[in-house]
Amino acid sequence: MFTPDSIEVQGERFTPFITQEQISTRISFMGKQLDKDFANLNPIFIGVLNGSFIFLADLMRHVQIPCEVDFVKLSSYGDKKVSSGNVTTLKKVDARLEGRHIILVEDIVDTGLSMNYMLDEMRTHHPASLSVVTLLHKKEATVHPVDLAYVGFEIPNAFVLGYGLDYAQYGRNLGQIYIVENKK
Ligand code: IMP
Repeated sequence: MFTPDSIEVQGERFTPFITQEQISTRISFMGKQLDKDFANLNPIFIGVLNGSFIFLADLMRHVQIPCEVDFVKLSSYGDKKVSSGNVTTLKKVDARLEGRHIILVEDIVDTGLSMNYMLDEMRTHHPASLSVVTLLHKKEATVHPVDLAYVGFEIPNAFVLGYGLDYAQYGRNLGQIYIVENKK
């Protein structure tokens, strides 16, 4: 696993913030919660690309109930560290969602804009239930309120990287989560 003591991406320095071990312990717990809450409901997990791909892959290996997996892809941030404010769908879900128990899987909820967009889009398919799992939540930054049923870690309002999360598309391959170092 690639876990350097610090890393520079596009001129910004990042230092370790949440370790592999902390992530794995938390995901194992979340998997058990999902097994209990969705037993006999045959849920469909929908990962929001690209950021959720590593979290979803690890989470799935802790879920033991029968379930399906699919993906959606949204556009929004471009290469910046601040949300552009516009969200569009780049890839839709292939499966039929009517009457299904949908579990949306995100890497991070920041302003809440993307998740609100996703939830509105999912509601148009008339699912039996709609829940959100996010690995990270920047509570202070969330200006569009979202009901988050499963949160891995509440984090401060600072830019983070690794374990699927990128900065200008780089850093997704880091094995743990890093936080931007504030310039003195
Ligand atoms: P929101 O729409 O502002 O909630 O932003 C959600 C999306 O922005 C996430 O799915 C991420 O792709 C991206 N994002 C927000 N904060 C960060 C961060 O700290 N690091 C990397 N990506 C982030």
